[in-house]
Amino acid sequence: MILSIESSCDDSSIAITNIKDNKLIFHKKISQEKQHACYGGVVPELASRLHAIDLPNILEETKPYLDKLKAVAVTNQPGLGVTLLEGIAMAKTIAVTKEIPLIAVHHLKGHIYSLFIEKEEILPLLVLLISGGHTQIIRVESLEKMTILATSMDDSVGESFDKTAKMMGLGYPGGPIIEKLALKGDENRFVLPVPLRNSPLIAFSLSGLKNAVRLAIESVGGAEKMSQQNQCDISASFQKAVKLHLIQKSKKVFKEEMIKDFAIVGGASANLYIREAYEKLCSEFGKTLHTVPLEYCSDNAAMIGRYAVEAYKKKLFIDPYTIDIVVNKKRQQGVEL
Ligand code: KG4
Ligand code: ZN
Repeated sequence: MILSIESSCDDSSIAITNIKDNKLIFHKKISQEKQHACYGGVVPELASRLHAIDLPNILEETKPYLDKLKAVAVTNQPGLGVTLLEGIAMAKTIAVTKEIPLIAVHHLKGHIYSLFIEKEEILPLLVLLISGGHTQIIRVESLEKMTILATSMDDSVGESFDKTAKMMGLGYPGGPIIEKLALKGDENRFVLPVPLRNSPLIAFSLSGLKNAVRLAIESVGGAEKMSQQNQCDISASFQKAVKLHLIQKSKKVFKEEMIKDFAIVGGASANLYIREAYEKLCSEFGKTLHTVPLEYCSDNAAMIGRYAVEAYKKKLFIDPYTIDIVVNKKRQQGVEL
């Protein structure tokens, strides 16, 4: 069995995965959403302190399995430095005291492997990753060979949902709130610009749309005076613009990439309106769409464990005395896989 730890942002999570058949033996996640909600986003120092309390409590519950561990895995990039360190400290300690190998997991590769929790890998694969930190289309050929085909120039999909909710004073995380309001809204009421619509670039950008949302909010008298119908209409119009942007750029990739299997992963892939649009796109292009069970879309240790099973088979281990967080200065474009 492999014990895996995830603490890259505001979820403390530990999983135990069987190496032989990928079966998830244990999985627990404590989300800190409530503690960060009043700040409209994640406060790194607070997140780190909460991990220091929650991770040991979860670890306590894994006691029955600790003697069966063959390896320990931990997310070491990308993420918040101070929160990654909490998971790394725990993983290092387990690896050294139990004298078992340590596996460092790239969080985005973990999201990709969330597709294969309790399943075999489907490769090669095209993946749209939409999370709180990233928007990317990735060609996945193997564990080691992943190529970024399109990436974000500024705000990610999840971030743009969070900021839209924040601008309307609706709390955090914004994704589920906006998706719910949009169900009761008129998506054609506000004509918001579809980002990079006339650009040949195969890339994502959402900061311009964020400004258009701000102007739309001001046009109805600002967040304080907003009626619920206005909130619903802005949410629906915003979500439609994000969808059109994602679909337009994905189409360009589909025209160049012949791989038949396509998947959407990451926290924002829980959005059913976006999923529906991809179902249509995939049937138009003769591709098979793969999605992640809703409970594993957002950050969790089960996906880190699933990746680690494959890394274990290939003996991709790291020295517990030298493992460290990997901080990337160019947050969006520079995330190498
Ligand atoms: O993958 P994730 O848990 O964390 C990162 O790796 O960043 O993604 C979190 C993001 C948040 O920005 C959240 O608002 C967004 O995923 N999200 C959604 C939905 N559920 C979560 N965005 C749009 N629609 C949703 N239903
Ligand atoms: Zn994530």
